[in-house]
Amino acid sequence: MPKKTVFLMGEKVILSPLDPKIDLPGYESWINNQDTTRYMAAGKYPLTQKGIREYIQHFKGSKDLLLGIFTKEKDQHIGNIALRTIDDRNRNADIGLMIGEPASRGRGLGSEALQLIVEHAFFSLNLHRVMAGIVEKNVASTRLFEKLGFKQEGKLREHFYTDGRYEDFLMYGLLRAEYPSQKRD
Ligand SMILES: CC(C)(COP(=O)(O)OP(=O)(O)OC[C@H]1O[C@@H](n2cnc3c(N)ncnc32)[C@H](O)[C@@H]1OP(=O)(O)O)[C@@H](O)C(=O)NCCC(=O)NCCS
Repeated sequence: MPKKTVFLMGEKVILSPLDPKIDLPGYESWINNQDTTRYMAAGKYPLTQKGIREYIQHFKGSKDLLLGIFTKEKDQHIGNIALRTIDDRNRNADIGLMIGEPASRGRGLGSEALQLIVEHAFFSLNLHRVMAGIVEKNVASTRLFEKLGFKQEGKLREHFYTDGRYEDFLMYGLLRAEYPSQKRD
């Protein structure tokens, strides 16, 4: 059994609240790594552990969720996932995630973390819709969200600047009615 506090449990990963005292080194290295953040809004300015601590603290005083993604096998912190800008009246929210450890990518761990947060959004928080904005060139990310049933709803042309070019930015959404009515096994 994992030693971390379990907020949401999957087969291979758990999602756990971040502890600002011990979960910072991984996060600090990922968010400052320009390869990792190439298609993310975050990471364009250097971030210190103090800045990250403040960021984590911001979630504690809000309705939004920021969770660490940990492997069940080794309790290794491999990334983070957030459910942000929760809108109480319209029952929607935005999802962002990062598998920060390159060796942990492409192993289905991002898919599992996304599934856990989507099911929490629909079946615990009673949200009606979840969404994500993704740079079109980020094939891993578009594939990940499409796999779970997210539909492309729009395209913001040349909205995102990276690697010296403006890239198109895709808006993805998933309605609760489009998701299996029960949690997936
Ligand atoms: C995008 C990201 C979260 C995907 O997580 P992951 O754990 O590597 O993804 P998974 O292993 O669950 O794979 C999901 C799907 O994408 C596909 N995929 C993963 N990496 C891919 C790549 N580099 N190119 C093409 N497809 C890829 C997988 O094959 C899988 O599809 P399949 O089941 O049909 O084979 C991860 O690569 C990442 O954190 N990247 C850096 C930060 C980032 O870009 N975050 C997203 C901002 S919107």
